[in-house]
Amino acid sequence: MVLNPGSTIGVLGGGQLGRMLAIAARRMGYRIHVLDPVEDCPTAHVADLQVTAHYDDIDAVKQFAQHVDVITFEFENVPAESLNAIAAIHPILPSPEVLHTCRHRVREKQFLDSNGIPVAPFHVCQSADDVAAGLEKLGAPAILKSAEFGYDGKGQIRIDTPDAEAATHAWQTIDAPLCVLEKFVRFSREISVVCARTTTGEFAAYPPGQNDHANHILDITTVPAQLPDHVTQQAIELAHHIADAIGLVGVLAVEMFLLDDNQLIINELAPRPHNSGHYTFDACVTCQFEQQLRAICGLPLGDPSLLRPAAAMANLLGDLWPPTHSHSPSTTHNATDPNWPAMLAHHDVKLHLYGKQSAKPGRKMGHLTTMADTPESAQQKVIAARDALKNI
Ligand SMILES: Nc1ncnc2c1ncn2[C@@H]1O[C@H](COP(=O)(O)OP(=O)(O)O)[C@@H](O)[C@H]1O
Ligand SMILES: [Mg+2]
Repeated sequence: MVLNPGSTIGVLGGGQLGRMLAIAARRMGYRIHVLDPVEDCPTAHVADLQVTAHYDDIDAVKQFAQHVDVITFEFENVPAESLNAIAAIHPILPSPEVLHTCRHRVREKQFLDSNGIPVAPFHVCQSADDVAAGLEKLGAPAILKSAEFGYDGKGQIRIDTPDAEAATHAWQTIDAPLCVLEKFVRFSREISVVCARTTTGEFAAYPPGQNDHANHILDITTVPAQLPDHVTQQAIELAHHIADAIGLVGVLAVEMFLLDDNQLIINELAPRPHNSGHYTFDACVTCQFEQQLRAICGLPLGDPSLLRPAAAMANLLGDLWPPTHSHSPSTTHNATDPNWPAMLAHHDVKLHLYGKQSAKPGRKMGHLTTMADTPESAQQKVIAARDALKNI
């Protein structure tokens, strides 16, 4: 199946990922419909149509599906019942099976493990006793993660002592019916490979990026990650292996830990464009959103090459805004806004804002990207530009 420009893409979820897909899709002459429960969501600003409905509103989801040619998602927790109801109407890509695996840490870990992909030693837990048994097996420190609904460090807790009391406390704190306990891995760096695969098995990967987090939220991505050549190669091969094994059609982000001995282990998968691939919008021949579009439309993939030797991305969180700020279409400069002119004086840094209604601490509001001759200078530039936002 090939969907040519002019076709309509349906996106379940209307945050920044859908918005950037919409920008890439509209540029290529596609139409975009988005379904999101919140009116005036970030994707709606650049979509042809928003259906405002909850993901479990089967009638609304069906109606939505009937008016598009292919369905994709940026929100991973669309209920299976809703996906089942529309799967017969138009293709959902990546497939509901891929989503089923990747949105659930236990299924994801078991999938990786059974395909011979290295992961941190883990233990599946359905009770505090299971956590205690897992701690005995794995030792401490360890991390207990809920099987579902976790993101940006939410739904997980570190356990530092291997006793029953600590196990009970962690189990009660997470308060989820199913969890995975993972051995705490001593990694030197976190990297990710964002890749794309088509129905014909064509595969393309972006260079591994180095991810630095702050408060469990991605802070900076620097590309290419400075790795020995064979590790770069291996990271891309692992992503390729996973994409093939899972039968990916679309974009997949593979988060990895680099251990001190240069071994790679897989942390988690996201079957969609990823925050660590946002730099591709400005810094690559083809961005991750256009790759997603091409893959789900049955088209050849684009060239993922970097336009310059290096790039970096810095997230802009709501913390940069004053506490009570809400976006209003004002033309006058509000003295308490982030200092946009000072940031934009960094002439080779690109600003992306997602058009979110209100800024909250920890909320991803936008990001900055820049390119340079070396990863270090790209990283320094993007941090300096972000710092300028605070120069009120
Ligand atoms: N097994 C582990 N050992 C050490 N650090 C970990 C482990 N699992 C997760 N982390 C740290 O916690 C962060 C968030 O965990 P992750 O599983 O990626 O969840 P999220 O969905 O919140 O991104 C990781 O980026 C990493 O820094
Ligand atoms: Mg993660």
